[in-house]
Amino acid sequence: MSEETAVKPAETSPIASGTALIATIATLGRYEGQSITLRGWLYNLRESGKLLFPIFRDGTGTVQGVAHVKSVPAEVFEALKGLTQESSVIVTGKVRADKRAPGGYELDVENIEVVQRVPESDPFPISLKEHGVDFLMEHRHLWVRTPRQSAILRIRAEIMRAAAEYFDTNGFIRTDPPILTPAACEGTSTLFPVDYFGDPAFLTQSGQLYIESTALALGRVYSFGPTFRAEKSKTRRHLTEFWMIEPEVAYCDLDELMTLAENFLSHIVQSVVKNRATELETIGRDAKKLEAITPPFPRLRYDEAARMLNEAHAKGELENLFEYGNDFGSPDETWLSSQFDRPVMVHRYPAAVKAFYMEPDPVEPKYALCLDVLAPEGYGEVIGGSQRVSSYELLKSRIESHNLPLEAFQWYLDLRRYGSVPHAGFGMGIERVVAWVCGLDHVRETIPFARMLHRMYP
Ligand code: 4AD
Ligand code: MG
Repeated sequence: MSEETAVKPAETSPIASGTALIATIATLGRYEGQSITLRGWLYNLRESGKLLFPIFRDGTGTVQGVAHVKSVPAEVFEALKGLTQESSVIVTGKVRADKRAPGGYELDVENIEVVQRVPESDPFPISLKEHGVDFLMEHRHLWVRTPRQSAILRIRAEIMRAAAEYFDTNGFIRTDPPILTPAACEGTSTLFPVDYFGDPAFLTQSGQLYIESTALALGRVYSFGPTFRAEKSKTRRHLTEFWMIEPEVAYCDLDELMTLAENFLSHIVQSVVKNRATELETIGRDAKKLEAITPPFPRLRYDEAARMLNEAHAKGELENLFEYGNDFGSPDETWLSSQFDRPVMVHRYPAAVKAFYMEPDPVEPKYALCLDVLAPEGYGEVIGGSQRVSSYELLKSRIESHNLPLEAFQWYLDLRRYGSVPHAGFGMGIERVVAWVCGLDHVRETIPFARMLHRMYP
């Protein structure tokens, strides 16, 4: 049962406070027939003559209460009646099973303590009616309280937990790279500059270069932290600040990397299916589509993907013509990723459109030993990675031809001077995965406080 596995330790051991048994909404099923106390907020109140139907939320879920004018003391009825949305309350009541109730239980209210009553003169800004997205983003600090948004954040937390769990239980050591860096990892055009005591520095775009160092020290490592891209583009897939989890493995080639990617991503999705079923239901996400996400994933060469895109264009399924040799644009990725019922791993892109650190294919060096994992249902790239250049000479010439400052990369070149080995890794953007798993049409709802081209508040 998702409820059992999803609860945190605090929720499994209710505190007896005085005579009250303090419980949470997610665990109400354990207290059927008993009086318990919930500490939360009023989500909504329906009044029907002598009956009141308050809906409470406490962060773990929502539950409907029932209070009849004759079943509760007059002052309790009065306190409940006309209670405003998002007033904070401590409510005691008897847990009653009800098949029609969304969580399976209702609460027969016995007592209520109003902690803070939201005044009618200044009501909670987010009413239950529809609001525009701009208004909601402007009130994100309050929007996160609504059941749908809380459910998304719970799923996000599960994705992050399961991602770290996969590496922690498969021999990877977490090593945290710096966030303040002297040089670019993913190209100079999307760097956020920082004034570092008078010297130029940048917010990191990826921890990769640093975990290549720790991988050669520890074998299998990963990093997990915020990364930054000064993306001027306003798309549904781009944030300027996002969370990336990145494994890096010594003695690893592209094939092994693809196997790692499909096992890793499947583990994450299946953990959500298992542990966050209630939340998936709350947001109306069909879990069947997620259950299908199991290895192996289809593997597609770039050339084959390009051919499919050209055919789709010829058949009129894809508006723009894909030009061979380019990186895929958003519409191309959307089309490609809707052709499969599980993520597709596109590998061996032309080296010319990919990053300087990618190892060329020894069979045909114009291709890079790289992969992009495109999520199904049109979600596009969720993972990008590659085998890394292991030759000192080649890496040095790449740094030079990409006009990167050689001095800043001396330490990175050292990794090829002293015991260089084939190694590989990838990065997965948490928000892209949350958007796909939750079936959202924009990444702005996948992170508590999104940072985008035109969004820095709240
Ligand atoms: O493909 P990217 O740019 O790859 C790297 O940064 C490599 N250095 C990672 C590595 O090999 N260790 O980014 C990796 C992933 C993308 O697949 C995408 O999921 C996410 O990071 N991502 C973004 N997510 C949200 N907003 C953005 N602006 C993103 N840019 C990349
Ligand atoms: Mg990429």
